[in-house]
Amino acid sequence: MSRITTNEQRLWDSLMAMGEIGGTEKGGCCRLALTDLDQQARDLFVSWCKEAGCTIRIDQMGNVFARRAGRNNALPPVLMGSHIDTQPTGGKFDGVYGVLAGLEVIRSLNDHGIETEAPVEAAIWTNEEGSRFPPAMVASGVFAGVFDLEYGLSRADLDGKTIGEELARIGYAGDQPVGKPVKAYFEAHIEQGPILEAEETTIGVVTDAQGQRWYELTITGQEAHAGPTPMLRRKDALVGSARVVDRVNQIGLEHGPLACSTVGLMQVFPNSRNVIPGEVFFTVDLRHPDDSVLSEMDAKFRAYCDQMASELGLELQLEEIWYSPPVPFAEDCVSSVRQAAQALGYSHRDIVSGAGHDACYVARVAPTGMIFVPCEDGISHNELERAKAEDLAAGCNVLLSAVLNQAC
Ligand code: GLV
Ligand code: MN
Ligand code: MN
Repeated sequence: MSRITTNEQRLWDSLMAMGEIGGTEKGGCCRLALTDLDQQARDLFVSWCKEAGCTIRIDQMGNVFARRAGRNNALPPVLMGSHIDTQPTGGKFDGVYGVLAGLEVIRSLNDHGIETEAPVEAAIWTNEEGSRFPPAMVASGVFAGVFDLEYGLSRADLDGKTIGEELARIGYAGDQPVGKPVKAYFEAHIEQGPILEAEETTIGVVTDAQGQRWYELTITGQEAHAGPTPMLRRKDALVGSARVVDRVNQIGLEHGPLACSTVGLMQVFPNSRNVIPGEVFFTVDLRHPDDSVLSEMDAKFRAYCDQMASELGLELQLEEIWYSPPVPFAEDCVSSVRQAAQALGYSHRDIVSGAGHDACYVARVAPTGMIFVPCEDGISHNELERAKAEDLAAGCNVLLSAVLNQAC
């Protein structure tokens, strides 16, 4: 087990430099997938990787792979990575940490003159967040064969722009086929929850990721004047939606403590203060680590939507746009992470990921493991997201050890 460590200051400085691209006044980051800012951040990553002696390969989904050659380049690489797109009010660590930790591992291998048997690569996966182009993890999904290329490239934002068009616009529509053999994949990430910090534990050894179901709903009623229309004659699409929002929240509580349920996006039409809303579009996100519980949540949610629509005389369109089942990570990779944390003397515990990650899809085609480090107050998807340089470096040291374990 390697005791070589990475460079804490260099990792931190790289994170801060990257965080300036899309940096917000509150100290967070707004760098939506395939915007000009995403392009700038990709360009910076590529330039750093080239300085570190890597060759760059870009596939047709815009996934970027920076390769440090090994002794035997016919072997599949040991891959590290995550994403650099953020939420609209995102932080400086969600995703980008896993990408730059990968680069820091490569830089550290260079510093120590270590040659690996298999090549080692750091990757950026396109559009992990699913905030601009739903669903989440779409490009790692194409990599893993969960989605076909045409589906991936045709995902559209709310203005109708597609991933394919936007990749071409920012110069990242690569020509390499999507998908290739990978010896092992490791993704370092902030926990995005409160457990590690509360338990004063440095490393989360991620054993599983919970399942998720995403839905899009359109509820249609009738637009009418807010003054003369008596209450009992109304077909108010927003009132129906509000009932669903409350029921979604209850379903999460009923299946606690592990279930999560969220309505995060809503559009009200015509959105005028003296018009009864005629149409509402909104999204629902249900999660649970146990697939059978997730199915129960799904059934309750659908039953309530039907009940609400018939009680209020509203029309309901409900589409499940994404299902990502719970993921168990590979025992071999999980134990590489656990052993590395142990050997480096870091406190650690097994943990289940509440968030989705590209690792969830890569796990279908390659042995995969994840490393979590604490974040302040467990807050993420928020400009106030913070992590400590020393914890980030600890996670990166574990990544280095786990990678050496697989690549040597
Ligand atoms: C990705 O950030 C997710 O929604 O879990
Ligand atoms: Mn992330
Ligand atoms: Mn995220």
